[in-house]
Amino acid sequence: MSKQPVKKTYETTGHEWDGIEELNTPLPRWWLWTFYATIVWGVIYTIAYPAWPLVSSATQGILGKSAAGDTRLAVAAEIERYASANAEIEARLAAADLTTIADDTELNAFAANAGAAVFRTWCAQCHGSGAAGAVGYPNLLDNDWLWGGDIESIHTTIRHGIRNEEDLDSRYSEMPRFGADGLLEDQQIDEVVQYVLQLSGQEHDATLAAAGETVYLDNCAACHMEDGSGDIYQGAPNLADAIWLYGGDVAALTETVTYSRYGVMPPWQSRLSESDIAAVAVYVHQLGGGE
Ligand code: HEC
Ligand code: HEC
Repeated sequence: MSKQPVKKTYETTGHEWDGIEELNTPLPRWWLWTFYATIVWGVIYTIAYPAWPLVSSATQGILGKSAAGDTRLAVAAEIERYASANAEIEARLAAADLTTIADDTELNAFAANAGAAVFRTWCAQCHGSGAAGAVGYPNLLDNDWLWGGDIESIHTTIRHGIRNEEDLDSRYSEMPRFGADGLLEDQQIDEVVQYVLQLSGQEHDATLAAAGETVYLDNCAACHMEDGSGDIYQGAPNLADAIWLYGGDVAALTETVTYSRYGVMPPWQSRLSESDIAAVAVYVHQLGGGE
């Protein structure tokens, strides 16, 4: 009896090794066509859009589009939209008479807001984010002004700065170095320091202070005034109050009289637009101490 041959139910490729045949099972049609379609799509995509990296850039694609470029354009358009929306009111602010801004509710609100943003960006690092200042950097919240607290004075101070070399119209004054330059003896400095303590209502040595009054009237009153109230035309601080730029104790006062101080603020007209300067002047003026 011979064996019946097994009925062949699979298509083969015709290859055979030791009785093992290689079957021919094609991929499903739908799968194959999807595969070809993705290849075609990929080729079209790399032609249409930025794709292949080159040495310093990439192929740009014939549609000239990119996701990053679109975002950049969108951001630029957004900035442009805000800039043109504000252009009119900024022009009004730049041209406005500073003293009348407060009467124009809309302009005033815009200036105060824009000014707060300018302040946070350009002024806070020296004057403090709350404008309370620090040693050598004046507090802008109080009603004690070195150079004047009306809106015009504040505007001038901001525009031209103080004791800087960049702006010819910068505010300028210089207190003499009474000790370092030998204008006063150590004894006289001790006396005048006691007199300043007396002026500002602090504990002091009455005998030294009495002698110090003469030193004061001869050497200091020209700038700080006889009563110690200071002089905004020379940026000379009030010495009769409890507000100190550099410190009101014996050590700080002795240091000031011996070596003097030289507070510098940069000019802002070269860095900020006219409307930004007006805005930040309005903001500072309204912080509470504006006259
Ligand atoms: C680099 C530090 C610095 C920066 C930044 C700075 N200021 Fe000043 N500012 C000073 C100093 C120091 C003084 C005091 C100078 C002096 O001793 O007279 C001063 C003084 C002032 C005064 C005068 C205060 C008074 O009592 O008369 C005003 C107003 C003022 N600054 C506003 C601003 C505004 C607004 C900005 C931001 C646009 C600004 N400052 C940025 C350092 C700075
Ligand atoms: C030419 C004008 C001038 C004369 C004269 C002068 N000062 Fe001043 N003084 C100033 C100025 C301006 C400042 C502010 C300096 C600064 O802001 O950097 C100042 C600051 C001071 C301060 C610092 C105040 C503070 O708030 O920390 C003291 C204290 C002071 N002077 C005392 C004196 C005494 C005492 C004399 C006399 C022996 C005198 N000054 C003479 C102009 C003058």
